[in-house]
This record gives sequence, structure tokens and C-alpha cells, in this order.
Amino acid sequence: MTPSLATRRPAIAFEDVSLAYGNRAVISELSFSVASGEIACVIGPSGCGKTTALRMAAGLVRPASGNVAVLGKSLAGPRRDVAIVFQDYGKALLPWRTARGNVSLALEAIGIPARERADMIDPLLAKVGLASHADKYPTEMSGGMQQRLQIARCLAQKPDVILMDEPFGALDAMTRQGLQDEMLSIVAETGTTVFFVTHDIEEAIYLGDKVIGLLPNPGRIGQVFDIGLPRPRNQLTTREMPEFLALRRALFDFIEKAEQ
Ligand SMILES: Nc1ncnc2c1ncn2[C@@H]1O[C@H](COP(=O)(O)OP(=O)(O)OP(=O)(O)O)[C@@H](O)[C@H]1O
Ligand SMILES: [Mg+2]
Repeated sequence: MTPSLATRRPAIAFEDVSLAYGNRAVISELSFSVASGEIACVIGPSGCGKTTALRMAAGLVRPASGNVAVLGKSLAGPRRDVAIVFQDYGKALLPWRTARGNVSLALEAIGIPARERADMIDPLLAKVGLASHADKYPTEMSGGMQQRLQIARCLAQKPDVILMDEPFGALDAMTRQGLQDEMLSIVAETGTTVFFVTHDIEEAIYLGDKVIGLLPNPGRIGQVFDIGLPRPRNQLTTREMPEFLALRRALFDFIEKAEQ
């Protein structure tokens, strides 16, 4: 029997984390955990500290007080088993490298020899639907393709945890839904833990096992919503379920109050 999400060890744990920039408190006593294999989405008004929390989980920003632990260890800096997908795919990719070359970069960084790299890259590109675009440069690809490429590069790291900061925010609705489903199937296959920041309430519910709602000034927990919707999720039927609609209303009310 697989253990329920609630009983699995946390992959990400924030304990009483606080941070200030200058004399302005940005995050205050933030505590939450994300179980191994869980998808936790984070929503909250602009400026409430979502990206800051993600950068802390990445080991890029140290808390002033409290503790951030990933995979059971307090973070001292970035880790190779934690990958980050940025919103701005244009800046995240190397323009002078092809799709294959960009994925290769992640493998080079972890010291995989050239002849082994070749065998690993094409299956990764195939997994994100870019098999026939391996020799294209990022500028020759659409936004959705570039974001797929960034995801392939992250997967090359074989991460246990993926941190995503509004990764689909700049994409049109159809491309966005396609990538949501690809991400869900990859995560279901690999058991990767996902920390997913989004502005989109429906995206948070559709993807998440739980949604962490943050309040601003300073950034802190407002409410954590458990998303008990069955998996696999479906863009039509899941979004039509009464439970989905009830959650949509609850999150909408939460954001509306948080922005006041
Ligand atoms: N390096 C920095 N120096 C000073 N202030 C910062 C820095 N980074 C973030 N902030 C401030 O911290 C607060 C939280 O920023 P953060 O980027 O985490 O918000 P966010 O929730 O991701 O917002 P958005 O939804 O607009 O992306 C903001 O008020 C921001 O101005
Ligand atoms: Mg942000």
C-alpha cells in the first residue's frame, strides 16, 4: 500500500521562516511542508513573497531566521537534485545552443561523459514533445516549445524536487493546458515533488494536491486548501466537477480578501 501524502516525509519544510529586505519584513514566520511526491501550488497577491519563498526553497536566498529543509536536510545553498523552471524561458535558455545543446548543458553540469549524453538527450526531448526540433535554436521555437525545452533541461538533472515560478504564465490558454497535462504525466511517472507558483487560481486547483494561499505585507500563510480531486485530471471533466467549482469560489474569495 502506498503511504498517503500526509504520512510521507516532507520534501520541502519551512519552519518559522522570516526575511526582511532592509527594514521591510517580506516573509514572516512562514511554516508549511510539501510531502514527497506532492504537488503544492502557491497563490497570493502580487508582491506577497511567492518568488522569494521559491528562491528560498532553491537555496538562492537564506532566511534571516527559521529553517528551510529540502529532502530532510537544512539548505546551505543550491542542490543538484532541485531544479528550477523560470517564467522567462527566453532568458533561461542559451540562444547559441540548439535544443539538444541546451539539454546537454544540464548533463555536462553533472559530469556525464559526451557519449552517454547523446543517448540521454533525445529521449528527454521526446518526453516533452520536441523530438523533431532537436536541432532548432531557441529563437526558432515558439514560446510553448521554449518552455518545453526548459522543462526537458530540468528533467535531465533527474531532480527529486522541481520549483516552478509561473512557468506557463506567458503562454496562450491552449498551450498552457497542454503543458499542464504534460507536466502532470511526467510528475506522475517520476514521483517528483513540485512547488508551483501561479497567479491562476484554476491552474493551482487543476494541478495541485494542495494550494498554499499567502497573505501579503509581510508574506505569511493565509490558508492551505486541500485539493482532493481525483487523478488523472482532465481539462474538461475535472474543471466541471462541483468540487472544482467550490474550490474555485473559495480561492477567489481568499484572493479577494488578501488583496484588500
Ligand atoms: N532583492 C530584493 N530587494 C528588495 N526587495 C525585494 C527583493 N526581492 C523581492 N523584494 C520585495 O519583496 C516582496 C516580495 O517579492 P516577490 O518577488 O517574492 O513577490 P511575488 O509574490 O513573487 O510577486 P509577483 O506575484 O508579482 O511575482 C516585494 O515587495 C518585493 O518588492
Ligand atoms: Mg513572483
